[in-house]
Amino acid sequence: MANSIVTLTLNPALDISSSADIVIPNHKLRCSTPIYEPGGGGINVARVVRRLGEEVLAVVPLGGGAGHRVESLLEDEGIPLRAVAIEAETRESITIGVDATEDQFRFVFPGPSLSQSELKTCEQALVDEAKTASCVIISGSLPSGVPAQALASLVEAVAPASVIIDTSGEALLEALQSGAYLVKPSARELAGIVGRDLPTEIEVIAAAKSVLKDSRVENLVVSIGAGGAIALGEDGSVRRLRAPTVRVASAVGAGDSMVAGIAVGLARGLSLSEALRLGIAAGTATVLTSGTNLCDPEAVESLLPLVVVDQS
Ligand SMILES: Nc1ncnc2c1ncn2[C@@H]1O[C@H](COP(=O)(O)OP(=O)(O)OP(=O)(O)O)[C@@H](O)[C@H]1O
Ligand SMILES: [Mg+2]
Repeated sequence: MANSIVTLTLNPALDISSSADIVIPNHKLRCSTPIYEPGGGGINVARVVRRLGEEVLAVVPLGGGAGHRVESLLEDEGIPLRAVAIEAETRESITIGVDATEDQFRFVFPGPSLSQSELKTCEQALVDEAKTASCVIISGSLPSGVPAQALASLVEAVAPASVIIDTSGEALLEALQSGAYLVKPSARELAGIVGRDLPTEIEVIAAAKSVLKDSRVENLVVSIGAGGAIALGEDGSVRRLRAPTVRVASAVGAGDSMVAGIAVGLARGLSLSEALRLGIAAGTATVLTSGTNLCDPEAVESLLPLVVVDQS
């Protein structure tokens, strides 16, 4: 069957999580049996798209033992994968929860660099797989060896599929100069771009307007955690989406779930407002689940009518 949504994760990880009673320096810390999960922005997005019932395929460069593990974990979850073999070993990320304080320590390594020819092979794989796709999602950080400008050429290469990009730092700046359909920074990431804090909704909207004006993208969606999101279009539209109030178990994966919900909505032919509503419901549903767990589709359904969309 045709894939309606294709994701690209250039810097994937084997996520290892465990817990310890207490964390103190210079001692051996005995941890619980680790849990292994496939990780990286586009991989998380693909996992949520799959849960929401749409066809998806993940394009991922993978190498070494950790790469094999990511591949088999995705297979176990029934997520179609186009693995691009790379020379170096895929990175591992480590999360240690502390039982006594409920704190989480997250150790994130840089990941292997991609050679030019490996990047080219990823681009070709993405182009092949995106031929039948309505939406391509590029999500997560860029590994070393990949210039941020590569994003613009990836967006051009998969045309006419609509591209959604969720990344940060230098890559986010470049994403804004690509012809992407939609870019989703968080308010924190937007603040990093404009170089000042954005403590109020009015300041987020003002910053988003100026960033969108200087960009080449069609839509800028700024997520603001419990505050929901603000979506600005190049047509001058401003949509304010309010997330339902919920008890937060863990916000890990909220942004990836939001992007997955938006893509699923667009793949189903919904209007952008309704796709954004589904995105907020998916993000909020993920906040209800503990640790690295992603959203439950029934929770997404029940939150959907509670998302308020104001358009001006
Ligand atoms: N506390 C919360 N209550 C309700 N919904 C939330 C909460 N936190 C996040 N969400 C939902 O998840 C979406 C994305 O969250 P957020 O803005 O934190 O993005 P993020 O990409 O996870 O952030 P970052 O990348 O900066 O860590 C929000 O727009 C909202 O729908
Ligand atoms: Mg994010």
